[in-house]
Amino acid sequence: MKIERPTTGGGRKLYIETYGCQMNVGDSEIIVSIMQNEGYIFTKKIEEADIILVNTCSIRDNAEQRIWGRLKEFQRYKRAKRSLIVGIVGCMAERLKEQLLEREPIVDIVAGPDSYRDMPRLVDAVSAGSKGINVALSQEETYGDIRPVRFDTNGVSAFVSIMRGCINMCAYCVVPYTRGIERSRNPETILRELHDIYEAGYREVTLLGQNVNSYRWKNEEGEVVVDFPRLMEMAAGVAPDLRVRFATSHPKDLSDRLIEVMASHHNICKAIHLPAQSGSTRMLQIMNRKYTREWYLGRIAAIRAAMPDCAITTDLIAGFCTETLEDHADTLSLMREVGYESAFMFKFSMRPGTYAYRHMTDDVSEEEKTRRLTEIINLQNELSIASNRRDIGKTFEVLIEGTSKRSTEQLCGRTSQNKMVVFPAAEGLGAGKYATVRITDCSSATLFGELV
Ligand code: 5AD
Ligand code: SF4
Repeated sequence: MKIERPTTGGGRKLYIETYGCQMNVGDSEIIVSIMQNEGYIFTKKIEEADIILVNTCSIRDNAEQRIWGRLKEFQRYKRAKRSLIVGIVGCMAERLKEQLLEREPIVDIVAGPDSYRDMPRLVDAVSAGSKGINVALSQEETYGDIRPVRFDTNGVSAFVSIMRGCINMCAYCVVPYTRGIERSRNPETILRELHDIYEAGYREVTLLGQNVNSYRWKNEEGEVVVDFPRLMEMAAGVAPDLRVRFATSHPKDLSDRLIEVMASHHNICKAIHLPAQSGSTRMLQIMNRKYTREWYLGRIAAIRAAMPDCAITTDLIAGFCTETLEDHADTLSLMREVGYESAFMFKFSMRPGTYAYRHMTDDVSEEEKTRRLTEIINLQNELSIASNRRDIGKTFEVLIEGTSKRSTEQLCGRTSQNKMVVFPAAEGLGAGKYATVRITDCSSATLFGELV
């Protein structure tokens, strides 16, 4: 018998806007799930919202500045509807609770990444005339039992969070302070979610965490019973036509065993995102990355030996504290040596509370950071085009995501290496199906091909 219990939402409409990483997208899906269970209705139209939530990012100062700007824009919705509730959730809420409440009177709710189960109560607190605040971080919360409500997806590829938080303490990074300590999600709940996703028609899943290589699930005796390579094997076993990816890896924890597991499963995608941050061993040490340039290159060699066709992508930071021209040149030479398929590239942004903030000086000028970043971006463009050119003439299995943006006569999808391919549509092919495509041409961002 289903037990009816009173819900607090009462049909009120919830709108949510998401900034930052894929983890945040996943968190927004969890929030919507929790709120729907309480009788709230999810809407994609901000004008009809009774509650606006902004899921925020603190990784760089410009991410936070954008959100302060966005908050100003919400004033007009509040003027139009006095009862409108505005909540700031996620990393910036965790980091800036006091400032948010003081500087922006329109903010009613401030909720950190581990307090989403408390969201219905926080809304009720606001309805009763006070502010709703919860920024407590947890050592256990993984939202493992919650089935995320997937909105804004292509229905083909989904993201599944397998762990939360981070303990690596890179000197520049605010994440351990905003998302708390590292903890792994129960593998049973992960596999259940993978089966659900497959049943719902998804054909690709990306397992997500700040450092998935340190995933470990222990039994009651404290023994590790599932580590990341094992979890990948279990995920690959869900269905032969369900592709499995993962993000993000810390190079120091990328094991031979994981490489072996990747190489021996057809449906584990041949793509590794391996953030280097810098090509200079001196900088890596100051950044507290716990590996050297040589060690990083050793990992790349191991990947290449086992999987010659594996795509390698990275994150790079230009102008971290004390970075010299020589350090910067090391980053450029590392990029050439690896030949990255693509990269996320950033100017260093000093974040309050981090080790760098407490112990170092942000001594590379803004102008010089920009100059170095531009060099990095220009080089990466060359490398990306070179990598795409090497694919011309090769044949790939492409998982179709839908029709291309430009024309309905064209389909688009991704290779195992995660490159986008555009090719002519054909009978019987559509989103969620696999096609075999020979590459005939490319741009810097896309491959073009024909069906074989
Ligand atoms: N400044 C610039 N980039 C940063 N990243 C993390 N912290 C900072 C910072 N303070 C980058 C790193 C990381 C990616 C998610 O963001 O490259 O891998
Ligand atoms: Fe931004 Fe990092 Fe938080 Fe993701 S974990 S939202 S990248 S600060």
